[in-house]
Amino acid sequence: MVKKNACVFLSGAGTNLKELLKSSKNANFPININLIISSNDRAKGLNLAKIHKIHSKTINLKNRLQCENLLWELKKRKISLICLAGYMRVLSKYFINNFKGKIINIHPSLLPKYRGLNTFKRVLEAKERFTGCTVHYVNERLDSGKVILQKRILINSDDDEKSLKVRVQKIEYKTYSEAIIKIYS
Ligand code: GRF
Repeated sequence: MVKKNACVFLSGAGTNLKELLKSSKNANFPININLIISSNDRAKGLNLAKIHKIHSKTINLKNRLQCENLLWELKKRKISLICLAGYMRVLSKYFINNFKGKIINIHPSLLPKYRGLNTFKRVLEAKERFTGCTVHYVNERLDSGKVILQKRILINSDDDEKSLKVRVQKIEYKTYSEAIIKIYS
């Protein structure tokens, strides 16, 4: 199998990146991660770039020039998929349009419910029975692109924000890899 080149965007811990890296060690997994982009240079996830010897960069993507430079680099490295994994910035319309249909994200809720931040708190306040995670394509509207894969879990009566986050993240790890397999199958 000829693997596609992929890039992961992050801002924080990078636990999803860690799991994607594990999956990519499998010869049958459709992507290799060749580039890691962080929105801040203190993101813990950047350590994984060092450990796995993957080229990484901290970029703000605040203006057109930064977007153009990154788009050029993606082209140079033949990147055909961008996986947002805890990337806390909103990508510009310009950037999304120039990488159309090839940017995906993982979100900790059952979209279209609970777009945006603080999903665990809002889910608990609404006394939902279920929550979960969604892998979706990225479009110009926040957490609104076409759903690729979604998995749900039952909320326990003693769940709090912390326990729910742990449980949802656990299913995120499997779901992200399965969604990437689904895209290329
Ligand atoms: C994930 O839980 C994901 O749902 C959200 O941001 C979190 C990132 O966690 N988009 P990590 O950096 O992958 O540990």
